[in-house]
Amino acid sequence: MTTQPEQTLDRGETELDRRAALKALSAAMVVPATLAALGANATASEEGATRAAPPEIKLAPLPYANDALDGYLSAEILELHHDKHHAGYVKGLNDALAGLAEARTKSDFGRIKDLTRAVAFHGSGHILHALYWDSMSPKGGGEPGAELAKELERSFGSVDAFRKQFAAAAKNAEASGWGILAYEPLTDRCVVLAAESHQQMAVVGAIPLLVCDVWEHAYYLRYQNKRADYVDAFWTVANWEFAGRRLETAR
Ligand SMILES: [Fe+2]
Repeated sequence: MTTQPEQTLDRGETELDRRAALKALSAAMVVPATLAALGANATASEEGATRAAPPEIKLAPLPYANDALDGYLSAEILELHHDKHHAGYVKGLNDALAGLAEARTKSDFGRIKDLTRAVAFHGSGHILHALYWDSMSPKGGGEPGAELAKELERSFGSVDAFRKQFAAAAKNAEASGWGILAYEPLTDRCVVLAAESHQQMAVVGAIPLLVCDVWEHAYYLRYQNKRADYVDAFWTVANWEFAGRRLETAR
């Protein structure tokens, strides 16, 4: 059974709280099936699934000031992206989970297909955005730490080969999507995914380590239609330390 993520971060909570939440997220992963199960698990109390209310998912603050990445993304972009777009996925997820709870209470599953789709879309969108903020850092860039570099070399041949594959995946994700570095437990290797929308083209069980949002809202105000420039510049803020920590947890 999937571990229920603890997502109750508010402004002022500690870095340890944030890390604990992200560790839980790594167990939840980014797969729609898992997120659908999340809604079911959330209400599966000992009193029975029909009466328990779903937990409210809350939007954590950005882990840095809005203008902290200004060399890469403006404060306006980050503010809109976090406060409007990411907040919208959180609301959508809460609404969908509440809809599922109501359906169970009424034993009325006529909307189950739509609700399950909504949980997959908004839930994956929420988790990926939470990872995205931490995938960048004003102290980012440079090279990955020794352990992560070793894993990237084992999985891709070299760090540079990983960078090229990741960049190609992100640049070519169809329409709106994500470039994702993930750890895949079955093969005990890292993989690069090019998610479409938020929840499509994922690999069930793969644990995301580092993600780059290539929806236009992530970059258009500065880069216009030049997604490739935005992706290439991602390496100047890439938070290798975060990715290394998540790899350690995933393994
Ligand atoms: Fe986004």
